[in-house]
Amino acid sequence: MYCRDHCLGLSLVLFLSCLPAFTYGHGYVAFVTVDDTTFKENAPNAQPTPAATRQINDVGPVKGASNAQLTCGHTPNPATQFADQMLKVNPGSRVAFDWRGGDLSKWPHNTGPMLTYMADCGQGGCEKFDATKAKWFKIQQIGRKTGGNKEWAQQDLMNGGTAIVTIPSNIAPGNYLIRHEIIALHLAVTEGGAEFYPSCTQIAISGNGSGRPKSQDLVSFPGAYKDDDPGIFFRETFNTSATYIFPGPAIASFVSPSSDSPSTSGSTSTPPRSLQGSCGLKKRSSPTKMNVVMRPRHVSRIMKSLSFGSLSWH
Ligand SMILES: *[C@@H]1O[C@H](CO)[C@@H](O)[C@H](O)[C@H]1NC(C)=O
Ligand SMILES: *[C@@H]1O[C@H](CO)[C@@H](O)[C@H](O)[C@H]1NC(C)=O
Repeated sequence: MYCRDHCLGLSLVLFLSCLPAFTYGHGYVAFVTVDDTTFKENAPNAQPTPAATRQINDVGPVKGASNAQLTCGHTPNPATQFADQMLKVNPGSRVAFDWRGGDLSKWPHNTGPMLTYMADCGQGGCEKFDATKAKWFKIQQIGRKTGGNKEWAQQDLMNGGTAIVTIPSNIAPGNYLIRHEIIALHLAVTEGGAEFYPSCTQIAISGNGSGRPKSQDLVSFPGAYKDDDPGIFFRETFNTSATYIFPGPAIASFVSPSSDSPSTSGSTSTPPRSLQGSCGLKKRSSPTKMNVVMRPRHVSRIMKSLSFGSLSWH
């Protein structure tokens, strides 16, 4: 009798503690910072305002390596609701992707790599560009940190940091989509378990660089990944000693190795956690950052002062 009531109560508690995670447990790119300037992006399904990151309509993961939503996330068909802004970016600029939960809480996952691709949209700009026709090249990929407890760099997002990508310093000018992707591997010990979170931001690169990908650097999404790629179906996800093999192509040959780091910034004061899924995650109040990003173009210095330095790894 006691056990039945007790267990019923316990499972009710567990169930309730999981609810917020299921509701808000995934997310989107809420802000993009280019060097010193932060831009607010459209929340999923929100009434869109001009923004450079293509708005998604679902905070949940894209499942399956051949899923059509692998291109730019859960988006309606091309050329309908596209954001109408192109961010101006210089070669060598640092672009920070601020991934958040759907309610602007901190990013709820901490297991798996972050990869960045770019694709040339052509002279017409990216606003109407059909990303399913994009030819992508990789410019960065980040797995586990080399030091400390070898946590995945993605942990820094859970701690309130952002994912920082350095635009290749020699890249040719033009209009590009930049596809920043998180692959959450907490369920990837089973084939098909990996969760993909792709995002596409429209940028216009200036300067007079000449760096371009070679044809063998170029891939399509979907197409570049398979469900049984070792970096997507990864039995050793939680083994800090196991070598992680990134999915997709090698980093494009024109990209200098220095573009590989640093990759995230943010507080690392939160003790590392070993949560392996969204269930049971505490919901957090909105971070301080939110108070200062009401006028995206004028908050960069404040944002910068709220960053806590950066980390490097390979
Ligand atoms: C390249 O472009 C930058 C500004 O976009 C300019 O300052 C620089 O002089 C240019 N370099 C050459 C070699 O033309
Ligand atoms: C973790 O990976 C290392 C390197 O591949 C391997 O030697 C070791 O057996 C693995 N540990 C477990 C518990 O599987």
